[in-house]
Amino acid sequence: MSRKRNFSKRQLRDALGMFATGVTIITSCTRDDELLGVTCNSFNSVSLDPPMVLFSLSRQAHSLNKFEGCDFFAVNILADNQRDLSDRFARPSLDKWDNVEYETGVTQCPMFTGSLAMFECYTRFHYDGGDHVIFVGEAFNMKVGSPAAPLLFYQGGYRAMTPDASDSEWG
Ligand SMILES: Cc1cc2nc3c(=O)[nH]c(=O)nc-3n(C[C@H](O)[C@H](O)[C@H](O)COP(=O)(O)O)c2cc1C
Repeated sequence: MSRKRNFSKRQLRDALGMFATGVTIITSCTRDDELLGVTCNSFNSVSLDPPMVLFSLSRQAHSLNKFEGCDFFAVNILADNQRDLSDRFARPSLDKWDNVEYETGVTQCPMFTGSLAMFECYTRFHYDGGDHVIFVGEAFNMKVGSPAAPLLFYQGGYRAMTPDASDSEWG
């Protein structure tokens, strides 16, 4: 059987974009106290016991080496009203953290107030993920925010979730 691909990179991207996801910002704090933050929709749950999660970071990300050197990372699951924050951390920039409000977790990782949920994790594994590096972490500290509409990403753009007709409010 031939393993020749029947799709182009563009077609693959478009097809993968059919998978609707939430949006997170993964943060960390280096040993030199530099704050890191990257918008990621590759976040996923892995295991409940032990509690493990993953995200994958592009080998082209400026912060990749710094994340690889950190023992901890935090996951912020974004609400629909945090689109500006998502945009800000989706661009390489020297002033990502200017005028951004955040709290600091026990790991010193920045956490965004207003997120739907936040997890502080210690990094368990790095795996080769082709043009990405897969980070697997074990969560040990969690904070859940007030129920609110989640920020969604689908086919290359943000989406709003329409609550089911039977739901009167979020949560
Ligand atoms: C909704 C959304 C999801 C994204 N998900 C990822 C992701 O899972 N992994 C990744 O490497 N980049 C992802 N990106 C792109 C990064 O956020 C972007 O490349 C960022 O500039 C990387 O920051 P850095 O170069 O400062 O490290 C995503 C962007 C958006 C808008």
